[in-house]
Amino acid sequence: MGQSNIFLVGMMGAGKTTVGRALAHRMKREFVDTDRLLVDRTGVAVATVFEIEGEEGFRRRESAVLREVCEHDGRVVATGGGIVLDEGNRRVMREAGTVVYLRARLESLWERTRHDSSRPLLATPDPRGRLAELLQEREPLYRDAAHIVVDSGPQSAATLVARVMAALRARAPAGRP
Ligand code: S3P
Repeated sequence: MGQSNIFLVGMMGAGKTTVGRALAHRMKREFVDTDRLLVDRTGVAVATVFEIEGEEGFRRRESAVLREVCEHDGRVVATGGGIVLDEGNRRVMREAGTVVYLRARLESLWERTRHDSSRPLLATPDPRGRLAELLQEREPLYRDAAHIVVDSGPQSAATLVARVMAALRARAPAGRP
């Protein structure tokens, strides 16, 4: 199992994919997105997996994809917002690298997800209320999974990348990037 991966966890709309891609570019590392990989493996959209197999089926596939990712080393990995729901997933990520929680307030999460219809969990009559519930439920799980917490607000991806890199550097033993 790899040990030097960087996992980005956090809610839908926290900016994991955008920041992850930019971070990988800056650090000259390979970028992986677990949702993207799951879609590549199944050949259908996340929403279709939810439709056919339910959330349970999606979570099973998500855990399998995460384990596959953890066999590699040195990557930047953006994860789906619900990856922390499974205790095993939290443990595997902590063992396979550094876990960064991109924490954002409800308002910015809502701003960044309100016009997007690709997220099945928000396909409800009250998506903002649902987002608030999920944030409340998951906040302790993100904290439990994370080695580092970085606040993600309206800043540019470049600013967030700089923050994540500074936090990683502060945590690394002297001499290591
Ligand atoms: C989910 C978040 C989504 C995707 C799926 C479930 C969640 O990923 O994995 O729709 O449970 O929060 P993003 O966090 O990239 O939107």
